[in-house]
Amino acid sequence: MSQTIVNRLCLGTGDLLKGNLKERIDVFRKFYLDGGRLIDTARTYHDGKSLRIIKKLNLKFNIIAKPSYFIKDDKIPLKKKFDEYKRLCGYKTIDFFITHWPNEAISKKKVKNLIKLKKYRSLKNIGLGNARLDEIKKFHKFSNKNLNAVEIELNIFNFYFQKKILSFCKKNNIKVFGYSPIRWSKYKSFNNKSLKLIKKISKSYKIDFIDISLLFSLYKNIIPIISVKNLQRYNKIKKLDKFIDNKILKKEIFNLEKEIRKIEIVDPNKIWYLINNNKVKLENINFNFDELEMIKNEIKIHKSALKPILLKKKGRFYRVLDGKIRCKALYDLKKKINCIIL
Ligand SMILES: NC(=O)c1ccc[n+]([C@@H]2O[C@H](COP(=O)([O-])OP(=O)(O)OC[C@H]3O[C@@H](n4cnc5c(N)ncnc54)[C@H](OP(=O)(O)O)[C@@H]3O)[C@@H](O)[C@H]2O)c1
Repeated sequence: MSQTIVNRLCLGTGDLLKGNLKERIDVFRKFYLDGGRLIDTARTYHDGKSLRIIKKLNLKFNIIAKPSYFIKDDKIPLKKKFDEYKRLCGYKTIDFFITHWPNEAISKKKVKNLIKLKKYRSLKNIGLGNARLDEIKKFHKFSNKNLNAVEIELNIFNFYFQKKILSFCKKNNIKVFGYSPIRWSKYKSFNNKSLKLIKKISKSYKIDFIDISLLFSLYKNIIPIISVKNLQRYNKIKKLDKFIDNKILKKEIFNLEKEIRKIEIVDPNKIWYLINNNKVKLENINFNFDELEMIKNEIKIHKSALKPILLKKKGRFYRVLDGKIRCKALYDLKKKINCIIL
């Protein structure tokens, strides 16, 4: 089959039960009809309900599965989790079994357990989710170079800070799934030079910044995992097919990324997090020593961060980089989440 944009994308199920379910399901059906096969699922999404919906669809997707990372499920053997997963989604074969959050230390034993699942022939590939480079390297080594894929948050804003992960994966033939390529686009503000570049691209190609963000991941050979809430959005994405091999646009978007990298700052008034049903606004804050110690301590306790935390020192201060604000340590600050997304 020739490569179209549809078969370079992965549809996510994290938001499957948000809003209009029927419209979201229409997207899955159309995606399948168009030759789209990859879908991303997890045991924790809507407490298994999204898996049941996938089962009902009765289509032969290639499925990315992620077992629960919740502490309450810690004691359940991986094989049992895997079998339950297959039962819930109705798939006899799972294409990718990927850890969800690396809140457990990576040990030889755990890696061996994961590899063992492949022996049952109902699992094709194994992978690691939300891991730091050193964890990816460790897993790769323990698995005797049998790490098939990683799933990380990847978009035009945080690409630069994950370059080392990407080059390691490229060198070792590890597939990269990059989730949330679009999500942050609406929260960003740009400097004049970036705005000019965006305007120029938009005018020449009749695409918007959301399209640009998605194309960026594709041009970097990452498989973007996206949430598409209706057919209108899906059809808009499909129109990008004609740009897939456009080298000039690719160059222009890469130039834009270089410019964005330096300057873009989220408008704290436009983003908030829900904590105990309270909307918590993000505000600019300078990380002090104690807060940094807390983050470091968290890493020590869990032997890894819940999400890779990328801190950047700017002058005397540290700032948390894009997308990493969900790290547990920041919730634990027990006050307003104060951070800035560069
Ligand atoms: N492994 C992990 O830890 C992990 C973490 C997160 C996600 N994931 C996977 O990745 C999948 C996708 O994540 P995601 O939902 O963050 O990806 P995404 O598609 O980059 O982001 C979706 C968000 O972007 C907005 N959006 C998309 N298209 C838009 C458009 N044309 N105009 C305006 N807004 C637009 C959506 O708005 P609306 O609300 O209006 O739709 C939604 O808020 C998830 O379903 C899940 O499968 C995995």
